[in-house]
Amino acid sequence: MKERLLDIEHLHVELPPRDRRAAPRTVIHDASLSVAPGESVGLVGESGSGKSMTTKAVMGLLPRGAVATGKVGFRGHSILDMKGRELADFRAQRVAMIYQDPRAHINPLRTVGDFLVEGVVASRMMRRAEALEAACALLRDVGVPDPERRIAQYPHQLSGGLLQRMMIVMALLPSPELILADEPTTALDMTVQSDVMAILAEQIRERSLGMLFITHDLDLAAAVTDSLAVMYAGVVVEHGPAADIYAAPRHPYTAALLASRPSPTSVRRPVSIPGRPVSAFEVGEGCVFASRCAHATGQCRTQRPAPRRVGARTVACHHAEELEPALREGARA
Ligand SMILES: Nc1ncnc2c1ncn2[C@@H]1O[C@H](COP(=O)(O)OP(=O)(O)O)[C@@H](O)[C@H]1O
Ligand SMILES: [Mg+2]
Repeated sequence: MKERLLDIEHLHVELPPRDRRAAPRTVIHDASLSVAPGESVGLVGESGSGKSMTTKAVMGLLPRGAVATGKVGFRGHSILDMKGRELADFRAQRVAMIYQDPRAHINPLRTVGDFLVEGVVASRMMRRAEALEAACALLRDVGVPDPERRIAQYPHQLSGGLLQRMMIVMALLPSPELILADEPTTALDMTVQSDVMAILAEQIRERSLGMLFITHDLDLAAAVTDSLAVMYAGVVVEHGPAADIYAAPRHPYTAALLASRPSPTSVRRPVSIPGRPVSAFEVGEGCVFASRCAHATGQCRTQRPAPRRVGARTVACHHAEELEPALREGARA
């Protein structure tokens, strides 16, 4: 079995009810995925499916009162059980987060240099001068000219694309083993998106870092990752090699996602997924996708399919084997 950097098994997260009489709300039902050292994994799904909550579990940053069961392991250590110093060191040194909107996470009153080195200085990994020097070297690596001038500037003086490169640098500075990138290019202009994505992918590859890349964009994920985990209503419904899943989806939701996007290379019309996306806390006993699935049977509506091995991947569908030809046709149509 391949060595695992990050290993999430049957993660289930409930948040406390909004008021005391209500029931707890499940936001993740069953999420399993793994990231090997040096591997990039795309976590793909519509808005509200639980992608960010999954990354919060990995960072040990679940909302107050959240109850998480299952396993979130980092090199064999349980993140769900980490506390105090151990958790602080893990967050500071071994895993780094790149957020969708840097402006929401950056203090507008401090220079970007201060912001960049704050983490590594606070955790005593580097002295300030040394950290600033390392940051400038990294800024050059990601194609930022004149980094000494840039780090003396304030966030409002930088474009969104430049600020997101700063965030990539901040993530790389402590030499982490795993990068969590949560929709890192979604807030950027189209033209800047692909530049920033290319820079991120290149840095990850050069350093052989593990990455969990979160996006709603299946095409983008398939283009830059080795493996995919497709999430719907708090369940990872399909997980496996990116090229295999992209070429031949085995879960009806993955197939529907693929069919619903406009294709730049074909004249076929996108086929929208019937019904509306449901949240994890709205789903009943059965398969979370049953209400929108063209292939759902009685069993799907009453019994939640457990994720199981189908070839090189894991699929949470009762009918994965028998649907294979139909889904293959659908993806090609
Ligand atoms: N802090 C929170 N408190 C309560 N509910 C939350 C909180 N954060 C997210 N949720 C809910 O959890 C579900 C999953 O959210 P999220 O992980 O942010 O989805 P995604 O990142 O896939 O768009 C959503 O239904 C969302 O409304
Ligand atoms: Mg999110």
